[in-house]
Amino acid sequence: MALAERVNKIKESPTLAVTAKAKAMRAQGIDVIGFGAGEPDFDTPDNIKQAAELAIKNGFTKYTPVGGIDQLKDAIIDRIKGDSGVSFERPEVMVSCGAKHALYNISQALFQEGDKVIIPAPCWVTYPDQVELSGSETVVISTTEETDFKPTAAQWKEAMASGAKAVILNSPCNPTGSVFTREELKELADLAVEHDVYIISDEIYGKIIYDDAEHVSVASFGEEAKKRTFLVDGVSKSYSMTGWRIGYVAGPQEVISAMNKLQSQSTSNPTSIAQMASIEALTGPQDSVKDMVSHFKERRDFMCERLNAMPGISCLKPRGAFYTFPNVSGLFGKSWDRWSINSSGDFSAFLLEHARVAVVAGDAFLAEGYVRLSYATSMENIRKGLDRLEEAVSKLS
Ligand SMILES: Cc1ncc(COP(=O)(O)O)c(C=O)c1O
Repeated sequence: MALAERVNKIKESPTLAVTAKAKAMRAQGIDVIGFGAGEPDFDTPDNIKQAAELAIKNGFTKYTPVGGIDQLKDAIIDRIKGDSGVSFERPEVMVSCGAKHALYNISQALFQEGDKVIIPAPCWVTYPDQVELSGSETVVISTTEETDFKPTAAQWKEAMASGAKAVILNSPCNPTGSVFTREELKELADLAVEHDVYIISDEIYGKIIYDDAEHVSVASFGEEAKKRTFLVDGVSKSYSMTGWRIGYVAGPQEVISAMNKLQSQSTSNPTSIAQMASIEALTGPQDSVKDMVSHFKERRDFMCERLNAMPGISCLKPRGAFYTFPNVSGLFGKSWDRWSINSSGDFSAFLLEHARVAVVAGDAFLAEGYVRLSYATSMENIRKGLDRLEEAVSKLS
């Protein structure tokens, strides 16, 4: 069958594919430790579940306005004002079926053939494909560990001057865990204003930060910066609500209206019950977020220490999100039995097939030489998985 060309240009999400593969192996009785998943292992907090139960009980089970109910929009507006000090009005806010869907709506409403979109790499797997689907072109800025995986001022300037329409920023970053500082963000905001470039600021990991890292929204640097920023967030990561599918965006009203039109002809409103649960997540007690972050921090420290002790592997300490992104290029050129390791893809295949450990190869994030390990899994799994990884690495010579 001849499929539409647009669908042939993209790939299935590699992170979801690794998770599905590990799940399928487990279903066959193979004991796989999964470091692939991008979702917290904790349950959704009870107060949030109860809000959903109440919504069902009260019959709040029908269509809602396409871009979300006012009560949820107000909760989002208050949350952004409280966290970042930026004021938005209801018509500037829209709720979608996850942050991924909010990002998709932005790219479909804003980009077309002939447009250029800047993406610093390593980047989340979905950005390049969503840009591709819009028909526009990606301008990738490759970064290295030396700059904590952040573009240098010269790289930003060159990319901004390329005639790009927008930049996709992700701080804290998936997969690197890098967090941009206030000064770095201010510099970027100034450049965006100077070159009249939109900033799509994916802040989904904004609550998951460690040590002295500070989460700052790029929308907070004055009216001109706000006018060009789409602040994207959601409840999936901070409240362990990946399955509820609620994400949102606050940004320029004209584009938000266009996105509402798109959503009205595709998904319609996000689930009414999940919207009610999200109001409770955003406005109810926040202790569960703190608890989760303290567990993540303990796991991060443990994982980094173990990885850095393995020959051929080195790992920066991430300051946000829940992933480590070790450099495994020191293993390239080594082999054992039928395995030769010459790429991060080779290494992750070796780990899955030989050690029964699932990680995501760096090329999925446009960063060959690295693999991503999620520490959103129990300490017991982390210990077991790293023991297996260490043993497998020790065989390579
Ligand atoms: C950087 C980033 N943005 C957005 C999302 C999407 O989150 P949601 O579950 O709200 O669609 C993810 C999920 O993995 C992510 O890692």
